[in-house]
Amino acid sequence: MQDVTSCWSTGVFAGVDLEQLALREGTPLYVYSAPAIRSRMRALHDALQGLNAGIRYAVKANGTLAVLQLLAEQGAGADIVSAGELQRALRAGIAACDIVFSGVGKTDAEIGMALAAGVGRFNLESRAELDAVQRIAAARGCMATASVRINPDVDAQTHAKISTGKAENKFGVAISEARAWFDAHTTWPNVQLDGLHMHIGSQLLSLAPVAEAVQRMATFWQQLVVAGHSIASLDVGGGLGVRYREGEHAPAARDYADILRTAFAGFDGRILVEPGRWLVAEAGVLLSRVVLVKQGEARRFLVLDAAMNDLLRPSLYEAWHDIVRIGDDAGRESLAYDVVGPVCETGDTFAMDRTLPRCAAGELVAILGTGAYASSMGSTYNSRPLPAEVLVDGGRYALVRRRQTFDAMIADEQPASVWNSP
Ligand code: LLP
Repeated sequence: MQDVTSCWSTGVFAGVDLEQLALREGTPLYVYSAPAIRSRMRALHDALQGLNAGIRYAVKANGTLAVLQLLAEQGAGADIVSAGELQRALRAGIAACDIVFSGVGKTDAEIGMALAAGVGRFNLESRAELDAVQRIAAARGCMATASVRINPDVDAQTHAKISTGKAENKFGVAISEARAWFDAHTTWPNVQLDGLHMHIGSQLLSLAPVAEAVQRMATFWQQLVVAGHSIASLDVGGGLGVRYREGEHAPAARDYADILRTAFAGFDGRILVEPGRWLVAEAGVLLSRVVLVKQGEARRFLVLDAAMNDLLRPSLYEAWHDIVRIGDDAGRESLAYDVVGPVCETGDTFAMDRTLPRCAAGELVAILGTGAYASSMGSTYNSRPLPAEVLVDGGRYALVRRRQTFDAMIADEQPASVWNSP
């Protein structure tokens, strides 16, 4: 993994001794490297140099406040998909005008909240939503700024569950429908419709589908301009993939930026990008202790104290995450393990048949590439409290999310003692 290679035998991550850290804060523990996140932000800024471009970090990738704050300090705005993410972004100090609101099912309450906060732009995904924004903005006596999310009907060549740009996906509208919205824009006097948006999928390892989709957006933008519409914003979504396993090649930010540079040459508005994973995935590891090693009839299981409730990606997408033993492996034989958690489901498996140095109960392992879509997809399934999270920087660490206590986990529950009529 970038920025963090070959530190596992020494067990030092961004200057912090992981064994000591695990002893202090317990496991499972999410650990995020602040320098790694900063370096990704810098690299993206550099790649986008010369373009009038803004970064709208996809909060869903990792919405932990301290992570958001770090990204905000580096100049990121936010791409949000719920009232909760809106509040997180604002709490982290991201200016409302630097927030774009995406998502196929924004409720009236969420639209009202976003208008009240003054979010910069709505990415609209359906005619019903456009009507709702018009109605709510009119009632508030304000003007909403919006882009149409087009569905470019491009195969992103990624996992089916995270592919979003094909016509059969629920996202966005056909270019022909978007065109009709622009032509009838006076129907929505409280919506300033002056942008295009798209997001074709996540964990894109090939830039070819991006180039194709961006080209379709560029052609449409030019047609709109010829028809007399003024376009202020072109938002190409997120999706830049990262290298989770050996042999995978992640696209370079510079090549991505070059695609935008070529396709949008002559565009005088703002270009927006909404990366999530690319900024944070490789900056995070999930530290976990080996509870025990179990020799089954057919397989050898490494049972960790982390489980699918902490990190769902392997169970949900059969996603690969590198797993390393923390400590010096010299002289240890290699063995094949099924690396599993303690949750009562066979799907609670992080890796099958994974070759690792011999591991023993009480030892520490790290699951890599878990800065994105890891903690943010966590749950308390099996009544397991949410893990703690720390940010490490220059040999020090900050506890940025306390381990959830049992009392906090059940705080909103109560016995059925009061019965109400709806
Ligand atoms: N913009 C929009 C409108 C999105 O829907 C997404 C992600 C992004 C930006 C950020 O995409 P990224 O740069 O992170 O690829 N849970 C899945 C990923 C789901 C992504 C959903 N949308 C996973 O663990 O792989």
